Amino acid sequence: LSPKDMQDIRVLVTAGPTQEAMDPVRFISNHSTGKMGYALAKAARMRGAQVTLVSGKVELAPVIGVQMVPVVSAQEMFDQVVKRAPQQQIIIKCAAVADYRPAEQWEHKMKKSQEDMALPLTRTKDILSYIGHHREKNQIICGFSMETRDLVENSKAKLHSKNVDMIVANNLLEQGAGFGHDTNQVTILTLQGAERLALMSKEDVAQNILNRLLEMYQGK
Ligand code: C5P
Repeated sequence: LSPKDMQDIRVLVTAGPTQEAMDPVRFISNHSTGKMGYALAKAARMRGAQVTLVSGKVELAPVIGVQMVPVVSAQEMFDQVVKRAPQQQIIIKCAAVADYRPAEQWEHKMKKSQEDMALPLTRTKDILSYIGHHREKNQIICGFSMETRDLVENSKAKLHSKNVDMIVANNLLEQGAGFGHDTNQVTILTLQGAERLALMSKEDVAQNILNRLLEMYQGK
């Protein structure tokens, strides 16, 4: 049985991939399955928190007792998160947000020709950075980071540039970690330093992250 140590704390979690449409039938996306974010939402709910889960398109069942906010694109996720952020005490941005989207969205299906083609892309807004720089007093903000090299250095830079309290860093090349797996191996970065956790289930990673965020929240 989980302790009810997050009673009535408002927690917003984002999960899953975003999809960036180029026409009515095609999109750009990534391999995120939403498992880590859903495990976080579930664990926070079990501990008594009031949870909002802003989720991209995933194959997972909605989490019972949680306010589900389905979104498709990075812009939709931005709008939903920014609107809800001021009311939150803890925000965990686990979603794999697309960094670029097709610059134009065609109204009709793009027809092929014999020629090659190039697709102009434009940057999406960085949601985590936005909420980090518009944070409320006493709010705790956690981001995720996925790297294939220089994990700790790159993630530490994000802690500062996005103005957040914690970055959970995944090494994509680690056995049993990252997209689609039921386990994860993460390094937790805060201003206090880096702590590498063992390989464990995403449920246990979620509890570990919540323990640390709760401690920070209560210490603020
Ligand atoms: O900069 P990078 O994409 O590596 O940072 C990852 C973190 O930033 C994740 O927490 C992700 O949810 C968030 N992010 C975001 N909006 C973006 C890109 C990333 O909130 N457009």
